[in-house]
Amino acid sequence: MCGIVGYIGKNNALPILIDGIKRLEYRGYDSAGIALYLGNKIESVKAVGRIKELESCLQTLGVCERADPEGLLGGLGIAHTRWATHGAPTEANAHPHTDCQGKIWLVHNGIIENYIQLKEHLISKGHKFKSDTDTEVIAHLFEDLYEGDLLATLQKTLSLIKGAYGLVLIHSDHPHKMLAAKMGSPLMVGLGDKETIIASDASAIINNTKQVIYLNDGEIADINRENLKIINSQNEVIDKKVEKIEWDIEAAQKGGYNHFMLKEIFEQPETVKNSIRGRYIIEDGKAKLGGLDNFTNKIREIKKIIIVACGTARNAGLAGKYMIEEYAGVPTEIDYASEFRYRQPILDSQTAVMVISQSGETADTLAAVREAKEKGALTLGIVNTVGSTIARETDAGVYNHIGPEISVASTKAFTSELAILSLLTVFLGRQRKMSLIMGKRILEELEILPKKIAKILAADKKIKAIAKKYKNAKNFAFLGRKYNSSIAFEGALKLKEISYIHAEGFVSGELKHGPIALIDKNMPSIFIAPKDSVYEKNMSNIEEVRARCGKIIAIATAGDKAIKKISDEVIYIPKTLEMLTPILATIPLQLFAYYVAVLKGLDVDKPRNLAKSVTVE
Ligand code: G6P
Repeated sequence: MCGIVGYIGKNNALPILIDGIKRLEYRGYDSAGIALYLGNKIESVKAVGRIKELESCLQTLGVCERADPEGLLGGLGIAHTRWATHGAPTEANAHPHTDCQGKIWLVHNGIIENYIQLKEHLISKGHKFKSDTDTEVIAHLFEDLYEGDLLATLQKTLSLIKGAYGLVLIHSDHPHKMLAAKMGSPLMVGLGDKETIIASDASAIINNTKQVIYLNDGEIADINRENLKIINSQNEVIDKKVEKIEWDIEAAQKGGYNHFMLKEIFEQPETVKNSIRGRYIIEDGKAKLGGLDNFTNKIREIKKIIIVACGTARNAGLAGKYMIEEYAGVPTEIDYASEFRYRQPILDSQTAVMVISQSGETADTLAAVREAKEKGALTLGIVNTVGSTIARETDAGVYNHIGPEISVASTKAFTSELAILSLLTVFLGRQRKMSLIMGKRILEELEILPKKIAKILAADKKIKAIAKKYKNAKNFAFLGRKYNSSIAFEGALKLKEISYIHAEGFVSGELKHGPIALIDKNMPSIFIAPKDSVYEKNMSNIEEVRARCGKIIAIATAGDKAIKKISDEVIYIPKTLEMLTPILATIPLQLFAYYVAVLKGLDVDKPRNLAKSVTVE
């Protein structure tokens, strides 16, 4: 994610920029930086950690006094709060980034997919890089193409980069100008009185102005002190509607949603896209996971995988086990991290222990990594937080690229973990027996999943109505088979975490071995029963519950009329490959849990007794 802010105007830019990135800190907070025009050149200060660290550096260096605009034409500067994607959270990797001469300075939110090729090319031309980031190539490429005209150079630069960006740049030869460009990452322009602020979202702007222009993909804002032009991808100057922000600051940080959890649920079309972006080549049916590059041959030799994680991350791992065994043919176990460290797992050099962790700091998961390394196993990670302990200690891994997850109940991390497990399945499978056709088929489906997620989110009113109807039940059963047993467990976990209702996940086949004794008219059962290889089996289980007067809420494939006849409620999800159904089936259950909790008046983002990151055993 990352948060970016740019300021040009009559006032001192420094306090406005600092205030802006503080309000964007929810988008990322592992390091921060600022670049300011101070008289005749641009100076930058960066710091690892939260923005208060940057503030103390600015104090120590005496920048605050020098930044006052008297004699400085007013303020000009850019600032960034980072959530690392490429390169650990260090001072060198913090934004703003610059070229060899320190003239162009820019902040970026997004991922440049072809940065490796561009970087090699620029190094061969003599450019000296100072960071491990993808962003720095933009500065050097700009420098390489620069002939005096900022806008023309930016357009040329953007035509050569692939990927997603929200970008703001300033140049020491042009103290009256600031440019911004958007492709895939959010960016808006705030229009104040003789001042313009660019930011990732409204929370960084509304202290100064509520008049904004939302930039669309492909658009560039060319801002001068007196005026501003918006240019589209056909190089035409366009008229944009100026809109008024009606939110207050708190609501703005949540993007207008009432809770971070709801915002994160609704972010999923985007976060799943970001997790897979640039990581596959459909024509070759291949997954391309940079974080595994140095271990490709070792991974080819792996004979067994043990997936180890806690909570929601473990539920993702359970679906991963089914994927990897069915499509890559590698025997895969799944374990609780808290169990793994105390049992006697059978490990050798041909075993990979794959840990999954949003925070990268979960104590039990970390202990599992250390135990596995001690026993000589290869350790792989799927981690969201770059530079976290688990990310550093695993031998290799894949980052989620979804920005920080704020709500304690994990949602966007879960779907991202599933998406990455699908890519890993293709990666492992293509090293083994998976055909080109099968690889292509999975990737093609994966690519269109974000649209299907968006379709489910559009039915959110219906899910809210169902939540209203069932919110007073004291117990819930969640049932599913094969891939969707993971969703039965995850659906139940979400509901109990935030609504404090007792909910159990079962594999449907176990129903008659005990859980069915619980069923009566007061205990609703939520069946995850898409049209897959175990559909008929699920249908029989639904009948068994119905025969005991149990209420049925079914998650079913669009167009399935038969299930409607035997269920009290049906929530439809679009059709997809069986192995990918968990990514879709979890969405209505996240919304269901959310609405039940809201209707009960509970603190959704901070449920009682729980912590986002459990760093103790
Ligand atoms: C805590 C959180 C859960 C999370 C689990 C694992 O219990 O409340 O939401 O799934 O830890 O966290 P991790 O950061 O390792 O994914």
